[in-house]
Amino acid sequence: MEFPKIRMRERRKDPATREKFRQTQELSVKNFIMPMFVKEGISSRHAIKSMPGIYQYPLKDVVVEARKIYHAGIPAVILFGIPLHKDDCGSSAYAEDGIVQQAIQAIKTKVPALEVIADVCMCEYTSHGHCGIIKPVIGHRLSVIGEKKSREPNTENRTPNFYIDNDATIEILARIAVSYARAGVDTVAPSAMMDGQVQAIKRALMANKYPRVKILAYSAKYASAFYEPFRQAAESPPQFGDRKSYQMDYHNSDEAILEAHLDIAEGADMVMVKPALGYEDIIYRIKEELKFPLACYSVSGEYAMIKAYARFSVLGSRGSSKTEKSLVLELLTGFKRAGADRIITYYALETAKWLKNK
Ligand code: PBG
Repeated sequence: MEFPKIRMRERRKDPATREKFRQTQELSVKNFIMPMFVKEGISSRHAIKSMPGIYQYPLKDVVVEARKIYHAGIPAVILFGIPLHKDDCGSSAYAEDGIVQQAIQAIKTKVPALEVIADVCMCEYTSHGHCGIIKPVIGHRLSVIGEKKSREPNTENRTPNFYIDNDATIEILARIAVSYARAGVDTVAPSAMMDGQVQAIKRALMANKYPRVKILAYSAKYASAFYEPFRQAAESPPQFGDRKSYQMDYHNSDEAILEAHLDIAEGADMVMVKPALGYEDIIYRIKEELKFPLACYSVSGEYAMIKAYARFSVLGSRGSSKTEKSLVLELLTGFKRAGADRIITYYALETAKWLKNK
């Protein structure tokens, strides 16, 4: 009988040995970025149905939440705003006294050491819920396009009767970014997937003398079914059509590398892959090929899915919260192992507690 020559299990035999051979550094709260929803015109926090434990906060609660995050050791938040007023061109997004601008100011005044990242997009601010300026395709009327809840335009197999005007949109994205910079933001995160958005923002920041505001580019953002709970939370579902003409097709990976290359050339300080679960190959490839600071966004649907798993699968005697904790640590470590330096996750606060009591 032949005995195995290489004894893999020798490296796994006990905790001390496993630690010696551990290749990926342990997960740290320092890797985390916590998302936060700020809503205009509410007086107390609103629960988000599909995301247990996650809330829309009124402006007055923002500093308290930010402090909680900072004291848990998490070094950064990413802000999303839900305005009272929506219109065709998302004007609330760049309003001097917009909800995100006020939140940035409040946090940077009271918790200055917390890095404030602000998502730069239009979908929460436009009446149609798309991430850019909508124009009719020649031969179609704009009134049809503006119609709420019209499911007719742009079902998959039909030619859409509208398009997103890329170059008009990036001008607005630049304007939003500058207004965030004026409010004191540390980092802006363009997520509209428009061509040239990073360059337009970089130029505008330089022209307005904000050279130190950093850009975290949502470079490889896929059109994903994982965003549904977010769209509830941010009140931003497209009223017709989908986002497939700007977000990436999940059959593609070379394109993700190119998107990241382009964003770096345009002036990004960090690039991002989104979603994270199911996209570890993209995280891995971008890190391998570009060797550039890389974030991944473990999105709302991933969070909702794990919460559901924890609720519905009480495994043996271990209990659901233990299962939830082990699964989250497993997945987040996997993102890090794949190559992510920073992880945006709705689990940031909970995981910070778990890591502390480990
Ligand atoms: C804005 C934006 C979205 C997310 C982050 N920024 C939604 C979308 O593209 O529809 C999704 C985040 C999540 O699901 O947690 N464009």
